Amino acid sequence: MFQKTASSYRQGAKTLPGEFYTSPDVFAREREAIFARQWHCAGRAVRLAAPGDYLLRDVAGESVIAVRGRDGVARAFFNVCRHRGTRLCEQASGRFADAIQCPYHAWTYATDGRLIGAPHMQDVEDFDTADYPLHQAAVAEAHGFLFVNVDTGPQPFDEWFRPVGERLARFGLASLEAGHRAEYEVEANWKLVFQNYSECLHCPIIHPELASLLPYQSSANDLVEGPFLGGYMDLTAPHESVTMTGRACARPIAHGDDRRRAYYYSVMPNLLLSIHPDYVNYYVATPLAADRTRIESEWLFAPGSRDDGGFNPADAVTFWDIVNRQDWRIIEQSQQGIASRRYTPGPYSPRESVPAAWDREYLRLMNCDL
Ligand code: FES
Ligand SMILES: [Fe+2]
Repeated sequence: MFQKTASSYRQGAKTLPGEFYTSPDVFAREREAIFARQWHCAGRAVRLAAPGDYLLRDVAGESVIAVRGRDGVARAFFNVCRHRGTRLCEQASGRFADAIQCPYHAWTYATDGRLIGAPHMQDVEDFDTADYPLHQAAVAEAHGFLFVNVDTGPQPFDEWFRPVGERLARFGLASLEAGHRAEYEVEANWKLVFQNYSECLHCPIIHPELASLLPYQSSANDLVEGPFLGGYMDLTAPHESVTMTGRACARPIAHGDDRRRAYYYSVMPNLLLSIHPDYVNYYVATPLAADRTRIESEWLFAPGSRDDGGFNPADAVTFWDIVNRQDWRIIEQSQQGIASRRYTPGPYSPRESVPAAWDREYLRLMNCDL
């Protein structure tokens, strides 16, 4: 099932032209061609634990309200009143007491999107509340994650997610609990976040801490083409996990050979998923501008870990906080160099076959032939 990274390498692969990282026009095209059409991870579904719980997400420049209805179903709505278009809700997350009410003229919607109150509209001929529900976006829940899609005819979630979803099943990700949350803002194009995540050629240079735990030559990729890319790296004995101490910091979530591996998958266009023997950390990237990206991250642990004497989440949190900042720093430096008049696309090595494949998928979605 796994292939060594070099096998998917294509001779002649080069990095993208500079305007893909700097141009507001390209950024606008990406919004339409990619972000307005693809499924987005919106974080952990447990954030919508109770009826009325909601969170706002920025998807393709749209504000979307993801909310758990009274019937237990998670739905997503465009944050747009059907009366005169006003944004309904401004707080990033919370719980709707009973309904969603527009702050302007008090049109009121049930948490399933139905319009249930519209002052003075009974005097309007042929007005029917059934004609004015909130505009829906598509929602899916998988492995404890929530996904949203603002396209009017999105690809069915299960069909899209299957290649990576079937690989995740054995880790029981749905039951994991968040132990730590972090947010970063990086002065770099969102694609640099993905390209950097997709290779470990830089690891011995940028991440001395990581290189001693996971030798960069040990990687093998099982997803080498398409929207999901990645595979695993072998942990160096006697290390048990990717932590400051090298020891496991929580109850195992992996079994068999997976106890000695770390899996790294990128999910186009906004999720990075790192699975370690005893914890998961994931990153949701939101492009803010051509040269600015917000990254939200959580560290997830097996339920019950907190009750164990050996539970030491800081061992994993500190490790990745250091490594993440090293990555953000170097991609900010990349962004600055790429913005130069003299930058031209450079050649990828066989150790960069995954970023090259990521670029191919990106260009396919952009409908762009370089
Ligand atoms: S714009 Fe929402 S009630 Fe008028
Ligand atoms: Fe890195």
